[in-house]
Amino acid sequence: MKPLLSVKGETPAGEKKEASGDVLAIRGGRPLTGRVEVKGAKNLATKAMVAALLGETPSTLRDVPDISDVQVVRSLLEVHGVTVNDDANDEGTLHFDTSGAVSAHFEAIDAHAGASRIPILFCGPLLHLLGEALIPDLGGCRIGDRPINFHMDALRAFGAVVDKTYEGIRITAPNGLTGASIELPYPSVGATEQVLLTAVRAKGITELRNAAIEPEIMDLIALLQKMGAIISYEPNRVILIEGVDSLRGYDHRCIFDRNEAASWACAALATDGDIFVGGAKQQEMLTFLNVFRKAGGWFDVHEDGIRFCRDGDIKPVVVETDVHPGFMTDWQQPLIVALTQAHGTSIVHETVYENRLGFTQALVQMGADIVVHPQGIASPDRRVPRRALEQAAVINGPTPLHAADVEVPDLRGGYSYVIAALAAEGESVVRNVGIIRRGYEKFLTKLETLGADFDVIG
Ligand code: EPU
Repeated sequence: MKPLLSVKGETPAGEKKEASGDVLAIRGGRPLTGRVEVKGAKNLATKAMVAALLGETPSTLRDVPDISDVQVVRSLLEVHGVTVNDDANDEGTLHFDTSGAVSAHFEAIDAHAGASRIPILFCGPLLHLLGEALIPDLGGCRIGDRPINFHMDALRAFGAVVDKTYEGIRITAPNGLTGASIELPYPSVGATEQVLLTAVRAKGITELRNAAIEPEIMDLIALLQKMGAIISYEPNRVILIEGVDSLRGYDHRCIFDRNEAASWACAALATDGDIFVGGAKQQEMLTFLNVFRKAGGWFDVHEDGIRFCRDGDIKPVVVETDVHPGFMTDWQQPLIVALTQAHGTSIVHETVYENRLGFTQALVQMGADIVVHPQGIASPDRRVPRRALEQAAVINGPTPLHAADVEVPDLRGGYSYVIAALAAEGESVVRNVGIIRRGYEKFLTKLETLGADFDVIG
């Protein structure tokens, strides 16, 4: 058993760097060592904030991460007349009062939506509250087409009318919303949330088949149950929702961000560091931890978090991304950085998004040996049917990484570039790091806490 690492606090210098900075000069070759805390999950907090719209009394959400996606949802709620207040005595706690909720115009929604896809999840709650929802053109990470057909089909099944206008999509419910029988073509996270947020107040029973069952969705179900919703989870991805006439506000603490925890674990592996991720929990990370161990990682589960480091050389692995309980698509990018240092050939098969291996080009520029094949690998017992969009990255290691000038393409790809630069020889320039703030709270502060050697240069 290895000795426990020392625990460092966050430095004021790191706090200062956080406020600014879109371009980093990063000097690599130093292991990341120390302790970071993860707060509530981006992929729950933002949806929980939307759920506040369903409550007739105020709601309180705890452990909300300070990330730009949360800011986007906050301003979208405010544009719709919701009062959002920070708790002066408890950092990361937000209070919502929906008593003044009103419709907003396309331009105002568009102006506040930023690059986020969250506006689409406002549909159900706004239809119940105001009878109308407007959706401007949606953004999100550049990781594929990211269509919204499952969402629109589900809303139509509830009786909503979807009109495309030159400004975006206008959705109305002239005859109210009625429970429906819906089978998703794919267990989409967003479409499952859409159905949950709409069905809880629709008339009658909704049966959702082929639902996503990610831990963040289970946490959303728990939150909705606190509000008075009646939701049961059946075997084989079936969720039953009995609509109710009204819901009250909630008081809820967000589930931890397992994507951020996995990212720091991969950073420890890639830089040969030793990172204690406070707030990380084993149960929601079982699949990740199996792969981490097979790749030569070492972890130790504590009451208050998980410690991650290497256990000798990094080993090659074959991984297929999948919906929960499979290996998450959001985990593959930081893992691939570590796999460039594995002794042998690894394969990462991306089955969720069609363009989520493009980020590997910059790693090749840094010296990695990665070939992306336009087709994935077949596995006999897939949870979901094969889709045309699959790709596989074949990574031959170990290859020393050297410094490069790279531009962040998306949230997880961007995090990976920073980790690659920290693992590389020499000084890299990483541009557009602002995107990383969409999903990683106090990112620069945490890097500084872990001993990363970098300057903000732009
Ligand atoms: N899809 C459709 N039609 C739809 C909706 C989805 O074809 O109407 C397809 C997508 O194009 C994709 C697949 O279904 O190929 C899965 O998409 P899903 O709806 O599950 O993803 P999402 O809800 O848009 C969330 C997370 C993503 C995470 C995925 C998968 C949020 C805000 N985003 O996206 O997180 O990768 O689930 O777990 O919750 C990230 O955190 O970096 C991120 C991208």
